[in-house]
Amino acid sequence: MTKPPVGSNRTGRKLGQKVKKGKLKASSRRWLERHINDPYVQRAKLEGYRARAAFKLLEIDEKHQILKGARRIIDLGAAPGSWSQIAAKVTDSSDGDARVAAIDFLEMAPLPGVKILQLDFLDDDAPRQLKEAIGGTPDVVLSDMAAPTTGHHRTDHLRTMHLCEVAAHFAIEVLGEGGHFLAKTFQGGTEKELLDLLKKNFKQVIHVKPGASRSESVEMFLLAKHFKGRRAMSAEEHEEDVAEGEYQDDGRD
Ligand SMILES: C[S@@+](CC[C@H](N)C(=O)[O-])C[C@H]1O[C@@H](n2cnc3c(N)ncnc32)[C@H](O)[C@@H]1O
Repeated sequence: MTKPPVGSNRTGRKLGQKVKKGKLKASSRRWLERHINDPYVQRAKLEGYRARAAFKLLEIDEKHQILKGARRIIDLGAAPGSWSQIAAKVTDSSDGDARVAAIDFLEMAPLPGVKILQLDFLDDDAPRQLKEAIGGTPDVVLSDMAAPTTGHHRTDHLRTMHLCEVAAHFAIEVLGEGGHFLAKTFQGGTEKELLDLLKKNFKQVIHVKPGASRSESVEMFLLAKHFKGRRAMSAEEHEEDVAEGEYQDDGRD
């Protein structure tokens, strides 16, 4: 079970440490203090994960079972790679039979069983390259992408929401029937249009906030479970269009 770490110190480092006043700006010092005293950071180190973000995915999976039985997983915004580490483990991926494709515009150190693309996911060619890298139908599309912050809150928010939206369209394009999509979003930030799209394509759509996600952060995750499949959707859309009078049968078979 993914238990929240307590204020203990299995890494041998004390919690509650202060950073000496020196050349650092007060805000950087506060960040550093929070980082070194964060029990999830210490636990990530102890368990060999590249980032504390690992515990967000593990916690969500523990509750919602999205990784069990997954054969192929795509990880969007993957650096430094803790979600890819988990994905490689659950898919039993190896370099000879890679079952995880990861993308990030930042450089990411190699991971066994993970095909890494150093590329902007918004690049026109990214979807094609990801499909080629995964080499089969993925069961899960993960996105922990967050746009680099500009300091302008509204702009940052809109950019991350845009990434979430593009990731959702990509998931609908590539997932196998019954597959799952998990993406980072913001509290109150998910557009109705995106929610409607997901509800139309997945059997269950929920927002989740794992304990490892800092409470002061507006970060949330959008989880869409059990993809209905593209064929099912086109039949459903066809019926809706007929009902709405948008579809015109030209009378030919
Ligand atoms: C929170 S980090 C991901 C942490 C990762 N899940 C882990 O467990 O190590 C978000 C990542 O999204 C990446 N990112 C943001 N926008 C992106 C884009 N347009 N294309 C590719 N990667 C992007 C950032 O470079 C950053 O590395």
